[in-house]
Amino acid sequence: MGLETLLHVGGKPAWTNPELPSLNRLPAHATLVPFPSPELAATLDPLRSPWFRSLNGTWELQLAPRPDEAQSALASARGWSTVDVPGLWTMQGFGRPQYTNVQMPFRHRCPPDVPEENPTGVYRRRFKLPRGWHGRRVVLGFGGCEGALFVLVNDQAVGISKDARTPAEFDLTALVHHDGDNELVAVVVQWSDASWLEDQDHWWHAGLPRDVYLRADGPIDDFCVRAGMDGMLLIDAPEGDALLVNPRGKTVLSGPVGEHRIRSPRLWSAEDPALYTLVVTCAGESVSCRIGFRTIEVCDGRLLVNGRAVRIHGVNRHDHDDTHGRAVTRGVMEADARLMKQHNVNAVRCSHYPNDPYWLALCDRWGLYVIDEANIEAHAAYDDVCRDPRYAAAFLERVRNMVERDKNHPSVIAWSLGNESGYGPNHDAAAAWIRSCDPSRPLHYEGAIARDWSGGSRATDIVCPMYPSVEQIEAWARHNTDARPMILCEFSHAMGNSNGGLADYYAAFDRHDQLQGGFVWEWIDHGIKKTDEGGREYWAYGGDFGDDPHDANFCADGLVWPDRTPHPALRELMFLARPVGVEEVGRGRFRITTKRDFRGLGDFRGTWELSDGRKGALPTLGGARVDVRVPVEDAEWVTFRFHLRRATQWATAGHEAAWEQIRLRPAPRPSRARGRADGWTGFDDLVLEPPCLQLWRAATDNDGLRLLPERSGGPLPRWLELGLDRAIPAGVVHRQAFRRLGGGGLLVENEVELPPPVRDVPRIGVVLVLRPGLEWLEWEGLGPWESYVDRQASALLGRWRSTVTAEYVPYILPQEHGHHGAVRRLAVVDELGRGVEILGRPVIGFSASHFTADDLWRARHTSDLEPRAETILSLDHAQRGLGTASCGPDTAEHYRLLESSYRFAYVLRCL
Ligand code: GAL
Ligand code: MG
Repeated sequence: MGLETLLHVGGKPAWTNPELPSLNRLPAHATLVPFPSPELAATLDPLRSPWFRSLNGTWELQLAPRPDEAQSALASARGWSTVDVPGLWTMQGFGRPQYTNVQMPFRHRCPPDVPEENPTGVYRRRFKLPRGWHGRRVVLGFGGCEGALFVLVNDQAVGISKDARTPAEFDLTALVHHDGDNELVAVVVQWSDASWLEDQDHWWHAGLPRDVYLRADGPIDDFCVRAGMDGMLLIDAPEGDALLVNPRGKTVLSGPVGEHRIRSPRLWSAEDPALYTLVVTCAGESVSCRIGFRTIEVCDGRLLVNGRAVRIHGVNRHDHDDTHGRAVTRGVMEADARLMKQHNVNAVRCSHYPNDPYWLALCDRWGLYVIDEANIEAHAAYDDVCRDPRYAAAFLERVRNMVERDKNHPSVIAWSLGNESGYGPNHDAAAAWIRSCDPSRPLHYEGAIARDWSGGSRATDIVCPMYPSVEQIEAWARHNTDARPMILCEFSHAMGNSNGGLADYYAAFDRHDQLQGGFVWEWIDHGIKKTDEGGREYWAYGGDFGDDPHDANFCADGLVWPDRTPHPALRELMFLARPVGVEEVGRGRFRITTKRDFRGLGDFRGTWELSDGRKGALPTLGGARVDVRVPVEDAEWVTFRFHLRRATQWATAGHEAAWEQIRLRPAPRPSRARGRADGWTGFDDLVLEPPCLQLWRAATDNDGLRLLPERSGGPLPRWLELGLDRAIPAGVVHRQAFRRLGGGGLLVENEVELPPPVRDVPRIGVVLVLRPGLEWLEWEGLGPWESYVDRQASALLGRWRSTVTAEYVPYILPQEHGHHGAVRRLAVVDELGRGVEILGRPVIGFSASHFTADDLWRARHTSDLEPRAETILSLDHAQRGLGTASCGPDTAEHYRLLESSYRFAYVLRCL
């Protein structure tokens, strides 16, 4: 009967009672494991503690359709399956994942109500207590639980927890047998009053995604450490002794807990994440953690780390894996942190909930600034829940769960009250609690400034808007009287082929000190791996599981694909966040400067390479700035590259962290010969379809939300009205003049005239169909990765090679990709080197593909695409910039095609 009692505390359903955010859940505390000696504690390895036992492994599971049927499911001898814990049943063959953004996953409800049909997982396993746990407090912990959690041990009600993403711990001391078996039952109710606080924009899952464990606690149930840049160290713990070991392994403190001063500590920052190991011992029990000496302040409109304003090169990160959903392993977390560091990312916002503590340990260790965010998003009931007194306790508890768990992590530089939940008294209460409990870190909450950037100072110390335009933030930087810095909590929405204009944001950050950077939305595409009937794998999005309601592919908006392969846009961020910059200070003279906030150039080795092929190494770098000479002679450009001298924890020696290309003189003018009038001749066996006007591109997610037309910003609705996806609109004129040049080339001169309603089109160019087999590409122009007019800061002029097949960029919803601009010469050839050559007059853009724009436009998933044998060659005079209108401002005007007439030319030759 334990379960019934728990499910109906006070006679009403506990899963729709927001005033009961938890029951018997132990107070949140720092992540800790007790060890029997300081030496063992210093290893920080829980598996070396006799007082810790993992309950990860195989559990039994039975899924009931409603909470009220959980009791009978539990009683039944049949119907049990086995699953892995950690794991989500929605990814283990039960129920299904469902993706929604703002809307709730069910219709016609108001908080705190949820549907009657409410999948309820009954988990069960047996365990034995290790010997020697007598006399200690036996604690059961769930690192997280997707759904409301109801726990029983040996048929006795234990407790309830609803905050899905912080540890739910319960005291089992009075309920467990020290000899013999114990039975643990965890009932997870998928929808509850808490779902209204967990309306983050991601998949809805259910199950037990994080570690489950038992711990035998002694006298230390928590400890709090503050370590500032001045060496002040405050250890707040039960009476006992403290031991502090510096990053080199030397003991620098051994004495009672309390206040100490460490002389000239090595400071922690994202650039030099120096960690000390602290062990606290009390009555035969030791606990430990890594700490860092650093000070975070907001002062005169700047966020300071150790007294210095820092630039935030941030990303928003969700827990996601294409096979396990939100149950991410340590390996997955390591892959994320490694890739971020390798791409010069220095900050991560835990959007929108506390991640597994291992994530923070990695950020401490490898150096990433963290905005830790409470697990609160009430997007569907935006302005209601934050002022609903029934939810007040839940707000406070969630914020406290985060702060108490993560307070000792040096990487955490700010506490966020959550995301997109309006702004109300429940926030102010939570903010006041943090201010009093941890004055050492600033607060962050976008909702507090959403309506008025000058407001909300009770709840946020950072002006942290989402998706403002460059103009808006610059206007603010010029005129505000705010004592807070601006750091964009979300910007540059990475959905599909995106992040147009990122360099323009960076230019604004460079112009105004009060603009300290921001967090790109977001790190990873939330595609889930699926196989179609033909056995082909693809990444599924909302609706692909029959989930309804859903928000289609709006969850595929990351800088990396679900398998963590970087999108080309990650290169752009990496370049803009580069640690080393170069400028020309005279003919052949260059100034190399550190772009980091603390470190100089000493850990890099530099090289140069000229457009004429000459190369060399730079002299040894050091300090903040070095002037060098390069024998540029009459080279057109010079490219500098900077590689790590030594391996780091996240990259091998030689890793290329920065590059910069400097144009030294204008490009040589191509020949101006005009030749004699001719027709389209001479390409019969190479060009199957001659050049023909192309205004359309397979719309990107930023041109418009193809699968969510009612929410589409961007130009797509207008393009579709013009019928651009079907035909060249009436009244458009395209004239091609063919002129035969000496040496066999054909000069193609184009004139395009657009009648009045046809403006701001996707592209101005032509498309040709080349015969099968023309697979190899070589070009001189921008490369090597795809680039567009508003996303090409990172691209380099050079001579590049690729293949038509390799040019495919598998955006989850197929769309325009693979463009290269500023091309002077392009060859498309077969394996014998036969094919065509295109010479820009002076330059042209191109993409080469086995798909037409229409093939891409019709496909819903990558697996819908069947490559054609032919090569589809698009030659673009211009393409509209990418922008980020899928969520945020449309492409800036100067990257649009707003003219009514265009002229361009190129030369075509057989090879
Ligand atoms: C923001 C929100 C994110 C995500 C993003 C769009 O409004 O905070 O969670 O929904 O938009 O992808
Ligand atoms: Mg949202």
